[in-house]
Amino acid sequence: RGPRELAGMRFLVSAGPTYEDIDPVRFVGNRSSGRMGFAIAEAAAHAGAAVTLVAGPVALATPAGVERVDVRSAREMRAAVLARTASNDVFIAAAAVGDFRPQAALPQKFKKGGAALELALVENPDILAEVAALPARPFVVGFAAETENVEAHARDKLERKRLDLIAANQVGAGLGFERGDNALLLLWPGGREELPRADKRELARQLLARIAHLRAARSGTH
Ligand code: C5P
Repeated sequence: RGPRELAGMRFLVSAGPTYEDIDPVRFVGNRSSGRMGFAIAEAAAHAGAAVTLVAGPVALATPAGVERVDVRSAREMRAAVLARTASNDVFIAAAAVGDFRPQAALPQKFKKGGAALELALVENPDILAEVAALPARPFVVGFAAETENVEAHARDKLERKRLDLIAANQVGAGLGFERGDNALLLLWPGGREELPRADKRELARQLLARIAHLRAARSGTH
């Protein structure tokens, strides 16, 4: 079982990629498998927490005891998350939210015919930063997938988005996305912990233990 402190806590977890429609048959997406977020949801439920999982389009089974809300685009994910922040103690943003979406989805399939298809992309809302800026907010955990200078970029993200904890990982070259294992660097204001390469389920347990520890320290029970 996971850390005992998690029993009775309410977790909101986002997972997977987002898909942004170009036309009725095409989309802009990314290579997130959703496995890290699903592993976190599973581990939290196993440890006795109440878990709501907001999932982008992934081919994964819902972990036992987890309430699942399926979404497709970043804007759908934002609405699903914001509707639930007030009723949760911890928000873990493991989703790889698309940073951009086509300005307007075409109503009909775009037909080829020699002309270039030009896509104007506009920025999506930053769900994590928005939740962290709420006046009454849960404990907020973000992820940072970086290809270089992992610690510096993640520390910057932690501070800029005013997070309580960030889990950073190096992606590319056989690391991170589309894999069953990973390695994480946890950073929080005033601390750090390296979680060496392990199965995503094991990493999820270690991440939850750190969250329990930080929350307990904050409420003065440790
Ligand atoms: O800034 P960057 O996208 O690298 O930050 C990654 C973190 O922010 C992840 O936790 C991800 O879930 C979250 N995020 C978000 N909304 C976005 C982009 C990222 O919630 N539009």
